[in-house]
Amino acid sequence: MGAEPAQNKGGEMTAAENQVIGKAMVQPVASAHPTPRIGLEQYYSEAGPDYAAWSREFNMHFGYYRAGSNPLHREAMLEQMNAEVLARLQLGANQEPRLLDLGCGLGATLRSIARCLPRALLLGLTRVPWQVERARALNETAGCSERVRVMEGDYEDTTLQSASYDGVYALESSCHAHGVDKGALLAEAHRLLRPGGRLVVADGFLAGGRFANALQQRVYRKLCECWVIEELAQLHPFTVRLEQLGFTDITFENLQMHVAPSVAHIPWVTLRFLLTALMFGKRRMTRARWNNVLAPVLLPLASAPIGPITYCMITAKKS
Ligand SMILES: C[S@@+](CC[C@H](N)C(=O)[O-])C[C@H]1O[C@@H](n2cnc3c(N)ncnc32)[C@H](O)[C@@H]1O
Repeated sequence: MGAEPAQNKGGEMTAAENQVIGKAMVQPVASAHPTPRIGLEQYYSEAGPDYAAWSREFNMHFGYYRAGSNPLHREAMLEQMNAEVLARLQLGANQEPRLLDLGCGLGATLRSIARCLPRALLLGLTRVPWQVERARALNETAGCSERVRVMEGDYEDTTLQSASYDGVYALESSCHAHGVDKGALLAEAHRLLRPGGRLVVADGFLAGGRFANALQQRVYRKLCECWVIEELAQLHPFTVRLEQLGFTDITFENLQMHVAPSVAHIPWVTLRFLLTALMFGKRRMTRARWNNVLAPVLLPLASAPIGPITYCMITAKKS
């Protein structure tokens, strides 16, 4: 792939996308705080229940807005993001696919896909024992626990059998993987996919060039610390790594405009959450919980159009 890291969906990359990726390539950005002070398990165990304020189905990601839909209906946009991931797995006529969710949270995407594909077999991995327990309970309630399993595990080094999945995806979880190219995660995804299977990754990437100034860079570092992220992926190294691993048909989509309407819900959701948690909440507001309040507020300050963080969906096929 060389200097042309990825193709846009349905054809060549646009000049603007080339420019964006080119900038990230020639102007590397500094990595975030190397040693986050709260661990991933602690963060997601303490702040996990608070995601109910964002999504009643525990969709722990941003929404996908489609023209003509209602931008005030957050849950529908969150569900649409699940549908967009599923569509990009390109399962075709396969009604009984085996699918793997790398970083499944409380399993909302798994259950969403299970509703669309009633014969699919789904497995979700998370590093957080509390999420495994909660996700299993939610699967029981949804009546899909026979087909939707959730396991504790590290998506960079699983014990799962090679070439055993028709599709693998990471929805807003790849950010937690190591390195700017997320190489260990991508290598594991490649190992687990059967030939012809597709990987879909949707997440924030450093894709828009330099930080505007030192303050914005500090905002980025604080954001990473709050969300227990070492550093976000950089688009060019990420797509080059995909190619080096042998993935083909690599596509890149900039979804910033599609997620913006759900990002716009942050102030209202944050305010409502704070009023409820501070006035009526029974659980102590721990540092992890405060971090989960602060991070979404900081996010727009370091994101496109004023910062380098851009929401991207990348797909690749194991040939
Ligand atoms: C923001 S949540 C997204 C959850 C889910 N994909 C969703 O959209 O609702 C990130 C998830 O990635 C998981 N995660 C982070 N690092 C991981 C790792 N090394 N192995 C497995 N899961 C991991 C976390 O445990 C968490 O469940």
